[in-house]
Amino acid sequence: EPKIIRNKEEMRNWSRSMRAQGKTIGLVPTMGYLHQGHLSLITEAQKHTQLIVVSIYVNPGQFAVNEDLSTYPSDLHGDIEKLKSIPNGVDVVFNPQNLYDYGVEREQLKEREKEKEGGVVSCLEDEEHETWIRVEKLEKGMCGKSRPVFFRGVATVVAKLFNIIEPDVAVFGKKDYQQWRIIQRMVRDLDFAVKVIGSELKREEDGLAMSSRNVHLSPQQREQALSISRSLFEAKSAAKSGKNISSELRRSVIESIEAAGGKFDYVEIVDQESLQTVEEIKNGVVVCVAAWFGKVRLIDNMEIS
Ligand code: PAJ
Repeated sequence: EPKIIRNKEEMRNWSRSMRAQGKTIGLVPTMGYLHQGHLSLITEAQKHTQLIVVSIYVNPGQFAVNEDLSTYPSDLHGDIEKLKSIPNGVDVVFNPQNLYDYGVEREQLKEREKEKEGGVVSCLEDEEHETWIRVEKLEKGMCGKSRPVFFRGVATVVAKLFNIIEPDVAVFGKKDYQQWRIIQRMVRDLDFAVKVIGSELKREEDGLAMSSRNVHLSPQQREQALSISRSLFEAKSAAKSGKNISSELRRSVIESIEAAGGKFDYVEIVDQESLQTVEEIKNGVVVCVAAWFGKVRLIDNMEIS
């Protein structure tokens, strides 16, 4: 049975007392609505530390007011049941109610989101919070371009979690490739005493990258969305067989997604570390995709190494 902690002071006290007993702590940050992709991060974390904390928090700071904060799926009870079923279990579920102080409720944030369609301000504004971490170069492209407040919200909430929980290890999925690189860079640049581990992207049987947002896809959109993973696998085998011009591979991914009825947001072929665009496919690149199927925006990627 995981202990459920809703208060950040209590979370900090738990961590401090465990550390005083010499225990090591692994953190898996999530926004809940857990699936096998999340659970695989926990299995990874268990390899590194004695104790595991899973945080479940839909972070308003990383959603712009015109994005899907109000429809982001959640099911805390279901999540806790899933966590109970994991072999060796998790020690704490941290589901903070007071992460950003000042008593702003999620309901109020939803109202605000409705009022401000079209803006790019975050759902957390100056009254609630004004200190943001920006990882300037890495956050510029791809998801950072389409979602201008997203990565500052992610980096900031992850820094808060690191400060509250003081984990020895934190595990992030390579599904969110740019996010993983940004957190790694933040930890390095700001000397956080935590080891960041990137864990493999998990797919459904048919190839679709697992995501909490998949639940919003209609059966038809779900079928269409397979064009993303299919075209990524095709790009990988084309690259392996010597097709190494980025622009051509990029084109074919875009065409497959559009032919299936999706709208691509970006398709970029970048260096795995710097996330800078590469002209020619060589070792150590990753093809990153974001695409819309109806109102659902999905991301996926494929490492070519
Ligand atoms: P969320 O989308 O819930 O994802 C939580 C973690 O699970 C992230 O590290 C993400 O990369 C990983 N993950 C999601 N789908 C995965 C998949 N199919 N395979 C492997 N890992 C997967 O990412 C966030 O939440 C938030 O931005 C957060 C880091 C919690 C900050 O709010």
